[in-house]
Amino acid sequence: ASTLGASAAEKGRYYGTAIAAGRMGDSTYMTIANREFNMITAENEMKMDATEPSQGRFTFTNGDRIVNWALSNGKRVRGHTLAWHAQQPGWMQSMSGSALRNALINHVTQVASYYRGKVYAWDVVNEAFADDGRGSRRDSNLQRTGNDWIEAAFRAARAADPGAKLCYNDYNTDGINAKSTAVYNMVRDFRSRGVPIDCVGFQAHLGTSLPSDFQANLQRFSDLGVEVQLTELDIQQGSNQANMYAQVTNACLAVARCTGITVWGVRDSDSWRTGANPLLFDASGNKKPAYTSVLNALNAG
Ligand code: G3I
Repeated sequence: ASTLGASAAEKGRYYGTAIAAGRMGDSTYMTIANREFNMITAENEMKMDATEPSQGRFTFTNGDRIVNWALSNGKRVRGHTLAWHAQQPGWMQSMSGSALRNALINHVTQVASYYRGKVYAWDVVNEAFADDGRGSRRDSNLQRTGNDWIEAAFRAARAADPGAKLCYNDYNTDGINAKSTAVYNMVRDFRSRGVPIDCVGFQAHLGTSLPSDFQANLQRFSDLGVEVQLTELDIQQGSNQANMYAQVTNACLAVARCTGITVWGVRDSDSWRTGANPLLFDASGNKKPAYTSVLNALNAG
């Protein structure tokens, strides 16, 4: 096929992007997004600070703009994210203990209920592990409510939207290392105890080389019975960018339960990684060699 989304669909996968509500008036941006992608993540608009700016008062205006555009154009939505140490509203940042735990569960319940039936998969919990080389939980106000905060969030999400796939999402988990192994052990534990979890998102914010065990890492999670997805892919531009995009695509295609790839933005100029030019379209909206590399990989075989 001739677009990323259609080519991925022929392989039983999706190809997605992150959309920012503030760019939806840009016709070049919207034309590319609508043509190429069939899974949509709101870059910021469904996060905790955006959806519950004051406690108990929920705002879905910008999230709805993205979700409604996606659904009315035949795309699916990845919800991002119900629980995170970052981008908490101010009122939540200063909370602790059982009041915070209750506020968290209420947030998960309200947001997942509001979007019930519209979200294919939720990043229920984002970035809960540390980068300390020992696989520790990240210290945060949420973690300090008790180690079971992650499973409590997953159970609340399942109750609120039984039809959505529930994912754990993190970065620096793309190869086999202490952090990804800690996530792996958590997922294995959840599956053995019946805590609802369906998928693991690997953000895949990559530099100029790919971990040699990238595919093996996806495979070991897939072997636990969960789907795996690349959720925020971007790759530092260098001599190797197009080739790395092909390798990443091929790794997903080689893992049976790798169900899709999302790039974290449309054009290089839309990326959070200023100066890295890490995406598939240049600032003018032209297809880069990395784009052709992904399309060819999706269409091979
Ligand atoms: O919209 C406000 C604007 O009104 C204000 O004037 C301006 C001043 O700072 O800030 C704007 O908000 C910014 C927002 O992006 C929209 O551009 C925030 O400051 C800025 O912090 C926010 O950054 C986002 C970042 O998450 C926050 O942690 C990035 O866009 C977004 O790409 C990034 O995405 C994360 C994923 O959610 C999780 N994984 C890592 C990834 C990259 O950091």
